[in-house]
Amino acid sequence: MKLYRVVFATLSVVGFCLAADQDVLTILKQQSDISTFIGILEQFDDLVNILNQGTFSVLVPNNEALAAFTNDNPELSNDTNAVRALLEYHIANGTHPSATFGLQPLFVPTLLTNPNYTNVTGGQVVEFAAVNNRSTVVTGVRATSQLVEADIFYLGGLIHVIDSVLTIPISFPATITKAGLTDLVALLNKGGFLTPSSPAVNIVNSLSDLTVFGPNSSQYSASFTGWNGLDNTDLLSILQYSISKGPVLYSSEFKNDTKIPTLDGIPATMYEVDGQFYVDTSLITTRDFLTSNGVLQILDSPMNPNTTGQLPLSSPGSHSGSGSKGLSTAAAAGIGIAIGALILGGALGVALYLRIKRRRRNNFSELGGGQTRDPPPRYELDTKGITEGAVNARELPRSHTFQIEHPVKPPSPLEIDGQERSRISVTIHGSPPRHLGFQARF
Ligand SMILES: *[C@@H]1O[C@H](CO)[C@@H](O)[C@H](O)[C@H]1NC(C)=O
Ligand SMILES: *[C@@H]1O[C@H](CO)[C@@H](O)[C@H](O)[C@H]1NC(C)=O
Ligand SMILES: *[C@@H]1O[C@H](CO)[C@@H](O)[C@H](O)[C@H]1NC(C)=O
Ligand SMILES: *[C@@H]1O[C@H](CO)[C@@H](O)[C@H](O)[C@H]1NC(C)=O
Ligand SMILES: *[C@@H]1O[C@H](CO)[C@@H](O)[C@H](O)[C@H]1NC(C)=O
Ligand SMILES: *[C@@H]1O[C@H](CO)[C@@H](O)[C@H](O)[C@H]1NC(C)=O
Ligand SMILES: *[C@@H]1O[C@H](CO)[C@@H](O)[C@H](O)[C@H]1NC(C)=O
Ligand SMILES: *[C@@H]1O[C@H](CO)[C@@H](O)[C@H](O)[C@H]1NC(C)=O
Repeated sequence: MKLYRVVFATLSVVGFCLAADQDVLTILKQQSDISTFIGILEQFDDLVNILNQGTFSVLVPNNEALAAFTNDNPELSNDTNAVRALLEYHIANGTHPSATFGLQPLFVPTLLTNPNYTNVTGGQVVEFAAVNNRSTVVTGVRATSQLVEADIFYLGGLIHVIDSVLTIPISFPATITKAGLTDLVALLNKGGFLTPSSPAVNIVNSLSDLTVFGPNSSQYSASFTGWNGLDNTDLLSILQYSISKGPVLYSSEFKNDTKIPTLDGIPATMYEVDGQFYVDTSLITTRDFLTSNGVLQILDSPMNPNTTGQLPLSSPGSHSGSGSKGLSTAAAAGIGIAIGALILGGALGVALYLRIKRRRRNNFSELGGGQTRDPPPRYELDTKGITEGAVNARELPRSHTFQIEHPVKPPSPLEIDGQERSRISVTIHGSPPRHLGFQARF
């Protein structure tokens, strides 16, 4: 198969005997400014063992971040369950180097599965994104934590030091309040959904894996009259039509022309027009408010089962704003990276970068029909040896770049459906013997 390429490269990697041991605590203790986190982690031996046996991205708040958090939440420090839950939420499954943040929407399950905190199958997620070009972790109520020290390898995984403690996503009602979605709150009030006796309360609080599509728009707020005269059954059917239960629909799962099962029994339809996504005729304006039991996607108008299947207006240019921007799933050349074994044999300070560059469109006009199509993405893999304290560093190669041209087909190498389409493996042997296995799936 042409798509399946295996590239083997051998090169020297600069390495110095900084540490012979590579378990997570050993590596953590070599970093400065994270002693508070280490003290907490050491209280949970089982989590330390899990970290050393699996493949994880550990998000480590620095001392300032934890001091600020403890100051704001003094009651938590005595609550072992809460501290454990918080730690679990800082451990994301799989290795996710900072350079992959923002290439495509990325929602990664964490070890937090305790139903006192989350009802998301497979574990509550964190979003890895690029905000203002900086690698960022987005969590509950779209709180952002930026990476201050990235890509520290330990056996089996990666450590990223972050500048604030992650926010465990809270319930849907608490999220809309804290996020200041006041138009949505007013509309829910119009529909009578906020009274404690409303079935809506039970739906959004007790079900798991929900995707709620909620409008937050001044036209559909306290002055909205469109629901006047509807009975409770109709109103409930509108609410249920706006909620999907099943695999949670984060923006990473948005796809054109797909049916979304709803609690009302009638499926809604998702469309993509000009890189923006719609559910029936409603535009998704702000994406991905993580909640304790799923996600909230903000719309510009309410959904209605009576208009199921209607297409969005063909002039979406009049709409404005799209929340967490990121790359459109179609435009982003996605790369799923799995760093397998990393055995540096004492070598530290090796950073891997994987970047995508796109050439200018006008170089790639299609012959037939004069239609321009996206150029093939170019993948670059850099390895850099960091040479502090080096003795004979100058003699050793310090940087290597592999350029791997992706063939023009397929047009989209996205791995949004979980299917691996091609693979590149790079194996690096150092001198004195160092081995670094690296695998990129895309
Ligand atoms: C933590 O527990 C100790 C002993 O039970 C108690 O004296 C202290 O006030 C508690 N601290 C907080 C912040 O609740
Ligand atoms: C991490 O993800 C892999 C692949 O999806 C899964 O098999 C594994 O169980 C997950 N590990 C944990 C600890 O959730
Ligand atoms: C959930 O909270 C209850 C009450 O605080 C506690 O008794 C129970 O052990 C908790 N469950 C888990 C899985 O932590
Ligand atoms: C992000 O980086 C690109 C290229 O490096 C630059 O053109 C762009 O202005 C940057 N955006 C922001 C918000 O800093
Ligand atoms: C929701 O509506 C309120 C009131 O108009 C506005 O202040 C807020 O920015 C909106 N939030 C989002 C995410 O649309
Ligand atoms: C998870 O679901 C259970 C059962 O419906 C419920 O009791 C619990 O409060 C939910 N937890 C969260 C965090 O919403
Ligand atoms: C749907 O249309 C029917 C017939 O016009 C009407 O009776 C019903 O109230 C409408 N339902 C909603 C949710 O608007
Ligand atoms: C979305 O799907 C519809 C129907 O299959 C198609 O007409 C339209 O071109 C698609 N849009 C995009 C952006 O792929």
